[in-house]
Amino acid sequence: MKQESGRGSFSGKLGYVLATAGSAVGLGNIWRFPYLAAKYGGGAFLLVYILLALTFGYAMIMSETAIGRMTGKSPVSAFGSFSRKRLVRAGGWINAVIPMLIVPYYSVIGGWVCRYLWAYLSGEGGAMALDGSFEGFLGSPVATELCFLAFAAMTMAVIFGGVRNGIEKVSKIMMPLLAVLTLVVVGFSVTRPGALAGVKYFLIPDFRNFSLMTVVSALGQMFYSLSIAMGILITFGSYTGRDVDIERTTAQVEVFDTAIAVLAGLMVIPAVFAFSGGDAAALGKGPSLMFVTLPRVFESMGGAWIGVLFFLLVLMAALTSSVSLAETACATFEDELGWSRPKAAALVSVILAALGSLSCLGFNVMAHVAPMGMDILSFFDFLTNSVMMPVAAAATILLVLRVIGMDNIEAEISRSSAFRRRGVYRFVVKYLALALLAVILVSSICDAFGLIHI
Ligand code: PFF
Repeated sequence: MKQESGRGSFSGKLGYVLATAGSAVGLGNIWRFPYLAAKYGGGAFLLVYILLALTFGYAMIMSETAIGRMTGKSPVSAFGSFSRKRLVRAGGWINAVIPMLIVPYYSVIGGWVCRYLWAYLSGEGGAMALDGSFEGFLGSPVATELCFLAFAAMTMAVIFGGVRNGIEKVSKIMMPLLAVLTLVVVGFSVTRPGALAGVKYFLIPDFRNFSLMTVVSALGQMFYSLSIAMGILITFGSYTGRDVDIERTTAQVEVFDTAIAVLAGLMVIPAVFAFSGGDAAALGKGPSLMFVTLPRVFESMGGAWIGVLFFLLVLMAALTSSVSLAETACATFEDELGWSRPKAAALVSVILAALGSLSCLGFNVMAHVAPMGMDILSFFDFLTNSVMMPVAAAATILLVLRVIGMDNIEAEISRSSAFRRRGVYRFVVKYLALALLAVILVSSICDAFGLIHI
């Protein structure tokens, strides 16, 4: 991103695609996607995910980017610039608050990555492959907290130092490297004895594994992974010039992001079958899945170097994403409250440290605090992905339909694109989006309160 006087802007098409892809590809693809796919239906989850990304995700990315480019503002002001009504501004705020709630628990997972990287660097990688080692780590408040703080400090150092440029240059090299290394690990993982059953489970939809939760979790994951419904793309759109073909770049980002997620699934899920038989308990492990299975794969690949390289690249991908989350949170305080950058960054640091520590302690000292039966980290994940993001997405769709007018958005997109998929866009925004969001929101809340079991 090139900083110009006043508001920053991207240096061009490539800058926009890279920044968006850098924000999109992160822990969501490598850590979150495989465990959700394993838990909620394998091939059925994958199919639903891809369908949603091509329709709903596509329409959301296009709308958010167009809103950003039309207004040249970040979410709260962008919403506010169309109408002064309280409700409209509230729609902007919900988009803006989500990153502030995600970045703390995101940094906790980033801390787990740091712990593993450190283990491989110091030659103890083998120990991470032993039964119970991950649980042992989570059980230690000091270890988890220190790792979380290390990752959070790296994120905030970038924010305070403003070395964003540097990090983006690094990610240009890291991203392709991550893709190549993931391919190598996939090759190894799928050829383990017994792994083929996992490949089938992940790639071939079996609708006996389908449940409403498949759709709920796939939708939440799509928001998370593509960085939508949290104001990021409105902000990015505001840095984008009229020369950027929004339609094409959207397709590129979607394909790249989904490809990395599918590769991560192929890396983790067959390994679950090879090493733990692929029974329901092994598949349903949740957030710990990647951290439990991958060390076993690396162990059988016989080299600590692969663990070092892998966790280093994941760390970089996680860092570019957490920086863009924290950056958005800061920008909101700067823009809306007129605060200076150091003041905004200081507040974000306090929120980050407080909420992140809660997530860490939820696995040990505060394990008895289980909101809605979840550990604290999973609770924040649920709150943001399954409750707040559907509301934020609905706010954006309503803004397009009721306030801006779909024709105006289409005109903005058409300034730079042939808009070949206009039909899909119209259909999703007009008929599909709100209905689907309502079903998702109601069912996930009912499920969380135990009213229905989906
Ligand atoms: N899309 C990122 C991931 O999949 O890890 C998460 C994320 C990063 C969301 C940055 C939003 C964001 F601004």
